[in-house]
Amino acid sequence: MFRSAQHDNVPSVVSPRVINIEDLRRAAKRRLPRVVFDYIDGGAEDEQTLRANCHAFEGVTFRPRCAVATPACELSVSVLGASLSMPLILAPVGSSRLMYPRGEEAAAGAAGAAGIAYALSTLSGCRLEDVAAKSKGPLWYQLYLVGGRDCALSAIERAKAAGFSVLVVTIDTAVSGMRERDLRNGVKELLSGNLASMLPFVSQLLIKPRWLAGFLTDGGLMKFPNVVIPEKGPMLYADVTAALEHSVVTWDDLEWIRQAWGGPIVIKGIHTEDDARRAVNAGADGLVVSNHGGRQLDSVAPTLRILPEVVASVGDQIEVLLDGGIRRGSDIVKALCLGARAVMVGRAYAYGLGAAGGAGVARAIEILRADLVRTLKLLGCPSIAELDRSYIDVPAGWPAA
Ligand SMILES: Cc1cc2nc3c(=O)[nH]c(=O)nc-3n(C[C@H](O)[C@H](O)[C@H](O)COP(=O)(O)O)c2cc1C
Repeated sequence: MFRSAQHDNVPSVVSPRVINIEDLRRAAKRRLPRVVFDYIDGGAEDEQTLRANCHAFEGVTFRPRCAVATPACELSVSVLGASLSMPLILAPVGSSRLMYPRGEEAAAGAAGAAGIAYALSTLSGCRLEDVAAKSKGPLWYQLYLVGGRDCALSAIERAKAAGFSVLVVTIDTAVSGMRERDLRNGVKELLSGNLASMLPFVSQLLIKPRWLAGFLTDGGLMKFPNVVIPEKGPMLYADVTAALEHSVVTWDDLEWIRQAWGGPIVIKGIHTEDDARRAVNAGADGLVVSNHGGRQLDSVAPTLRILPEVVASVGDQIEVLLDGGIRRGSDIVKALCLGARAVMVGRAYAYGLGAAGGAGVARAIEILRADLVRTLKLLGCPSIAELDRSYIDVPAGWPAA
């Protein structure tokens, strides 16, 4: 399905060159200009939450059952009515087309080929219909209200018509987080279109000629083709930060969004048990315990730490997902032991996309799948459905099971 990395002039992502997600991260760093790599890799302010999301997994330790044969491990799970080959969904990652030509299409294609779901960001560089055409797996559409209500209503209609099955409403983006790396790398200046402002920052693009050639051949700086503003057309890249500030989603909006969509809705960006209950009261079918991968409000608790209180409070009423900090299949296992039905990953696959396009995303998924099977076997657990708190120890102070 994916053309060979050799043919595309992108680095190979096979073993032993790439054996884990950190290798994909390093490969992405080599291929991408600093401004694009840091856009993926960075977080808000001091990046405390970004780091804490990952470290929280280290604090949870396994309690394996040894001398147990598990010849085949069952990984499949049903999430929001769709059967997934493993408990993994590719999270919405805006502007994936900066990472690789037709990036959203490549990522959706890799997800579909692996039998997992892909969530397309509102801030996609590819038309949602083109993304749908590239995937044979379940597709979710992530909604921001940038461009206003009419613009959102038209995207909702298009997403329904194109076969997207779940609407993900992200609620943690009242304004864009303070991503200091983006400021230092001149994102604002590079988007300004003003040559004098851009000049101090263009060298980082010029020293990555292969990326630059792909980017330019793919049309250069794209607009957002799924944010079509009435009488204006697709939103410009440079307008998005201001648009986010005027487009906060409130709990009241959920009512008209639910009516317009008419299908399953997932609320993404739950940080507390209180908001989890609000999501249930708003009629959501699923929620994602998520802090946007530490890209929004810094210093919020890592998602894994919040998961138990959310599961205890609403886990019997709504499907609970988690994202943030997942870099290994064993991280997925820990989240499942603490009650998540499935997880989303953002950076883990975005690094793959930046490293080698669809082949890199496929490799990220393959790495996580192999990790998952190996971890289950080493735990002596035959199926993800059987994972529970008895397979782990959590740090002192975490809520009881
Ligand atoms: C480069 C990048 C862009 C993102 N864009 C969006 C977006 O457009 N909409 C959204 O809801 N979340 C967005 N996110 C957040 C992810 O959906 C997800 O919550 C986060 O990446 C999970 O953390 P992880 O990267 O540690 O897996 C983005 C994340 C990254 C890394």
